[in-house]
Amino acid sequence: QGHVFTYDPGFTSTASCQSTITYIDGDEGVLLHRGYPIEQLAEKSHYLEVCYLLLYGDLPTAEQLEDFENRVTKHTMLHEQMQYFYRGFRRDSHPMAIMVGVVGAMSAFYHDSLDINDPWHREVASIRMIAKMPTIAAWAYKYSIGQPFIYPRNDLDYASNFLHMCFAVPAEEYVVNPILARAMDRIFTLHADHEQNASTSTVRLASSSGANPFACIAAGIACLWGPAHGGANQACLEMLREIGTPDRIPEYIERAKDKNDPFRLMGFGHRVYKNYDPRAKVMKQSADEVLELLGIENNPTLQVAKELERIALQDDYFQEKKLFPNVDFYSGIILDAMGFPTSMFTPIFAVARTVGWISQWKEQLSDPEHKIGRPRQLYMGHPRRDYVDIENR
Ligand code: SDX
Repeated sequence: QGHVFTYDPGFTSTASCQSTITYIDGDEGVLLHRGYPIEQLAEKSHYLEVCYLLLYGDLPTAEQLEDFENRVTKHTMLHEQMQYFYRGFRRDSHPMAIMVGVVGAMSAFYHDSLDINDPWHREVASIRMIAKMPTIAAWAYKYSIGQPFIYPRNDLDYASNFLHMCFAVPAEEYVVNPILARAMDRIFTLHADHEQNASTSTVRLASSSGANPFACIAAGIACLWGPAHGGANQACLEMLREIGTPDRIPEYIERAKDKNDPFRLMGFGHRVYKNYDPRAKVMKQSADEVLELLGIENNPTLQVAKELERIALQDDYFQEKKLFPNVDFYSGIILDAMGFPTSMFTPIFAVARTVGWISQWKEQLSDPEHKIGRPRQLYMGHPRRDYVDIENR
């Protein structure tokens, strides 16, 4: 309740908010969503059921889940006019740039009819965001490769629909591989929410001013893009490819330890986890399963990743700094095996995290004590001084 944390400069701060959605114990490597361990949710649940849990606080009955899934399915299409936003971007635009723009533009299409002070309107906005993000991301991918947009299909589950919109073409039938669909759904689940990370805090801060949900989510997407945050999955696979072979790993380990070298091991370390990120464990198992089922278990990038992890975890520096693989270390290997370019890794993270952002947006607005976020600072600049005319400077 209003925990007080003392930071190095000797000043204290209070927790940014109170929440009942996600709990992390960084020292023990524990992640709970409404009390349920992420390992159990990844194994036994599926993404839309986890969305229900995050949004409403409990696991749904069969009837509640069917109703929720139907409501999401019925809102997966975008307003046809929104296609014109895509056509204004250069073809080589990063899909995250397109997503920031298109989601922000949703404010012009869906917000005018919404009163965010009305709980029912907040519910409608929540369902729309979760439903439309896969279509927005898939169309950003299709636009970047010059292929026609593929519309969502109501006969496919959430993950299969996303894969179909990304990889189907009008010229021939595309059948979604169930192995990839299960892996895609698990990746969505593992990225659903993560307490007050940078992008979620951005969404909460924006929502505290009363900004509409689409503008708040657009702000979260922009923050997630950074390579220290959600952009790490793209940066990590690019790093693993640059390393190329296990014999080059020691060179990169030494660079990561060199304080004069800005290089960081992508996919390693975390602001909160000082133990193994529980999501990374599940992701590593999933990478093994998917690549074996696809017959590419000897994927050289996976071999480099496993050897890099083995060497780093034995290294004194990494042990002293308590640096472990995080959620981004293995996710890119699976997404690459699915056929996604690295530029789509962070958009996929954004699709998955939308439910976390929206759940926390709703919680922020439903808090009777919620006020506009107004962080203070420790002023370290000049004391008061008088203006000096230019001829006297
Ligand atoms: C995500 O907050 C969330 O919940 C985020 C996320 C989510 O689900 O929303 O979990 C998703 O963003 C995961 C993180 C993805 N980012 C990366 O993988 C990029 C590589 N990681 C680093 O940039 C870094 O680990 C951070 C930014 C994630 C955390 O850096 P901090 O705050 O410096 O971590 P720290 O204080 O624990 O670091 C301790 C020391 C520091 O050195 P000293 O200042 O003590 O000398 O370890 C060093 C750091 O410089 N360090 C690293 C390192 N990570 C930290 N050194 C080399 N390689 C690394 N990866």
